[in-house]
Amino acid sequence: MSEPYLRFDGISVEFPGVKALDRVSFSAQAGEVHALMGENGAGKSTLLKVLSGVNRVSAGALWIDGQRHVFANEREALAEGIAIIYQELTLSPNLSVAENLLLGQLPQRRGFIDRQALYADAVRVLKELGEETIDPATRVRDLSIGQQQMIEIGRALLRDARIIAFDEPTSSLSVQEIRNLKRIVARLRDEGKVVLYVTHRMDEVFEMCDALTVFRDGRHINTHPDLEHISHDMLVSEMVGREIEDVYGYRSREHGPPMLEVKDLKGPGVREPASFSVNQGEVFGFFGLVGAGRSELLRLVCGAEQPEAGTIRYKGRDCRFDSPRKAIHAGIAMCPEDRKSQGIFAIASVADNINISCRRFFARWKLFRHRSRETDNAHDYIRRLSIKTPGPDAPIGNLSGGNQQKAILARWLAEEIDVFVMDEPTRGIDVGARRDIYSLLYDLADNGKSVVVISSDLAEVSSICDRIGVMRDGRVVDVVERAQATPERLLGLALPA
Ligand SMILES: Nc1ncnc2c1ncn2[C@@H]1O[C@H](COP(=O)(O)OP(=O)(O)OP(=O)(O)O)[C@@H](O)[C@H]1O
Ligand SMILES: [Mg+2]
Repeated sequence: MSEPYLRFDGISVEFPGVKALDRVSFSAQAGEVHALMGENGAGKSTLLKVLSGVNRVSAGALWIDGQRHVFANEREALAEGIAIIYQELTLSPNLSVAENLLLGQLPQRRGFIDRQALYADAVRVLKELGEETIDPATRVRDLSIGQQQMIEIGRALLRDARIIAFDEPTSSLSVQEIRNLKRIVARLRDEGKVVLYVTHRMDEVFEMCDALTVFRDGRHINTHPDLEHISHDMLVSEMVGREIEDVYGYRSREHGPPMLEVKDLKGPGVREPASFSVNQGEVFGFFGLVGAGRSELLRLVCGAEQPEAGTIRYKGRDCRFDSPRKAIHAGIAMCPEDRKSQGIFAIASVADNINISCRRFFARWKLFRHRSRETDNAHDYIRRLSIKTPGPDAPIGNLSGGNQQKAILARWLAEEIDVFVMDEPTRGIDVGARRDIYSLLYDLADNGKSVVVISSDLAEVSSICDRIGVMRDGRVVDVVERAQATPERLLGLALPA
């Protein structure tokens, strides 16, 4: 085999109290899409940030095309032809699409920014991205999260890098955007680039990747130069370090009377009157493609948006909530999909982030916080969701992406709530932790609560839910009983006719 284009040689990275990477060595070839997998907090993003010069190594070096490098900053990495699409968005929301695409390399003419060249470059890249409909003059903050992610990708393409790394790029993309991304990745491979691809999704690995490296607890576990003889179960046990028989671990239970009855509800994003009901003790799923109107429908129920028509009965009484706060007070809460930007207090501690909304229940009197109960609660959820953190007092911003997600989820689970609406609860969360989350959802249902799960993960909805509502194009097309909810049936209902 030829000398690998990119080699990680004994890389270690340490943060206060955490060894994020421990003597990691492996290599990737040019013309290869190389998947990086591992549990939340395994060190995947840290490794990419070593490559891009953001993270400093305490030992080891990179070898690129036979040359040894230790990058001191992002500029040095950029000069070596490295581009990273990070897990979190890095765009400037108030600048235009064109400016964001070419930031740091704006075309100049006689000392001024050459607007014409800027727009021409932007139009070309937008076309490559399959996003021709976006006007380059649009401000980034007016784009959907998926479109913003595509702009991040476009920015990396414009750098004409030789090594391109994607950190969980598909987690916020629509079906169409994912298709475009796959096309772009395949093209980069054909052009002989090294593509590193971090994902938690097995289907993507088997469909898109040529080689695969698994990490666990900051250590390199295995590199598979090809995926021919690798099974799903093998991968899971390499990642988690033990066998997981059935990630979903479905438990059935008796259901009580209706908790929530929605009839003919209409509003923004819900084009046709929508009806469904959820019983006590039930886990009810909503499946559909991104943009089918699932989040919009539930936002109407939970007071985040006001319905134009229809009724909501909750515990047998007609209700309307002016705000999410009022809905939460009544016992209905929605944990948003975009948990990071909508829900995180980045500089606050993990414990504060978990406790923030149930503080009022713990307070001895309304005015005072009950520190020991808060600490107990935080410890409890850190254990139950295996949140990887040096301790409850660590700033949540230092946790890995998936572990931040888990902490925000814990905040909602800790609430005194009767109807939990969870929008994509396991997005970006590794297999082992997903099992913990499902088990917590079943516990809630066992205790007579109702759980509504919005999910684009077909295997997930068909495996954990008692009934599933399928939405397409702003309407509820059917509600399917668990026994009939085969993946084929659900997908058939969700896809455009
Ligand atoms: N800036 C930082 N300060 C302190 N600790 C950090 C920092 N960045 C990462 N860590 C820690 O390093 C470890 C590895 O984190 P990393 O973000 O690389 O995980 P990951 O594999 O990308 O996980 P995920 O799948 O959740 O994104 C974690 O324990 C994390 O808390
Ligand atoms: Mg990460």
